[in-house]
Amino acid sequence: MEWVLGIETSCDETSVAVLQGRAVRANIVASQVELHARWGGIVPEAAARQHVERLNPVLQQALDEAGISFSTIDGIAVTNRPGLVGALVVGLACAKALAFALRKPFVGVHHLEGHLYSAFLEEPERVIPFPHVSLIVSGGHTELMLVYGHGQYELLGHTLDDAAGEAFDKVARLLGLGYPGGPAIDRWARSGNPSAFHFPRAWLGDSANFSFSGLKTAVQRTVQELPQPLDTQTVADLCASFQQAVVEVLVRKAIDSAVRAGVKTLTVVGGVAANSALQTQIRQAGESVGLEVLIPPVHYCTDNAAMIALAGYYRLLSGERADYDLDAYANAPLAQVRNGQDAQATSS
Ligand code: KG4
Ligand code: ZN
Repeated sequence: MEWVLGIETSCDETSVAVLQGRAVRANIVASQVELHARWGGIVPEAAARQHVERLNPVLQQALDEAGISFSTIDGIAVTNRPGLVGALVVGLACAKALAFALRKPFVGVHHLEGHLYSAFLEEPERVIPFPHVSLIVSGGHTELMLVYGHGQYELLGHTLDDAAGEAFDKVARLLGLGYPGGPAIDRWARSGNPSAFHFPRAWLGDSANFSFSGLKTAVQRTVQELPQPLDTQTVADLCASFQQAVVEVLVRKAIDSAVRAGVKTLTVVGGVAANSALQTQIRQAGESVGLEVLIPPVHYCTDNAAMIALAGYYRLLSGERADYDLDAYANAPLAQVRNGQDAQATSS
């Protein structure tokens, strides 16, 4: 299993990657951000149509960049859950067609499993350290996962309402900063004072669960009470104070979970892992307790097919093979709380 092709179309990025072993030979990402920015959020039907238009050229570009032809491919990995079903089926149909035409095996990959592997794309020669804890923070998920080995997970905690990225996007919208909100808030926060406003932190005792909807409401209430229109410094202060409230909770819960689990490595993955304040503060906190903190570069934090290919590579190596009736699922847990079982067995 030398050359693996990865396909990711679960949300608003059309992406195809080529891996040779664990080394990334191509990772093409066609973003739909501009399309969805017009509506201030993702429109599922528009996302699916764009995947249909873009997948073939992106696939060709990935092969060209890797310098291979279809016949070189040994296996195919495709995101089949969770995500927008209309978007997922575009990638899935492509993977099945390729597998059938090339007579090569394919596997369905859980999108979050891809994010978990994204921390190990940068150093292909490095042995993946098991067990480790991962903080997955994206637009749709905020989870703390204990990773025992390939495909072996235990969910330590998850958000009870909004995902961290969702909170960033909603607050950005409230402040008129556009979509997606995370990068905009990150930029504005650099010229703001994180202690200017005090927003609540939902600690939920010492549990590893998260809650961000109260914070979003608190920001909303504060904004309504301020004189309009907001001046530039106030917007920057609101961004910095909101961001600090999110980051403090993420950092403390992730570090505590890793220490409690007795692991030596913590990975931080998903779109929100690109946040500069989170990166600085979690690295510092990790260092103070002797924990190695791994954060992928920005292009591997946000959705990409290289991470799907790497997760699929290990599944293909273990002998896993999908059937042509493999389906797409909008919702599917990667792991349950405290049973360490792989959800793949139950949902495929
Ligand atoms: O992982 P991802 O690309 O897609 C999902 O699987 O959801 O994550 C997208 C999320 C969006 O909510 C976006 O606002 C957030 O990641 N994001 C950030 C930053 N860059 C992206 N949030 C905070 N700071 C950033 N620099
Ligand atoms: Zn994602």
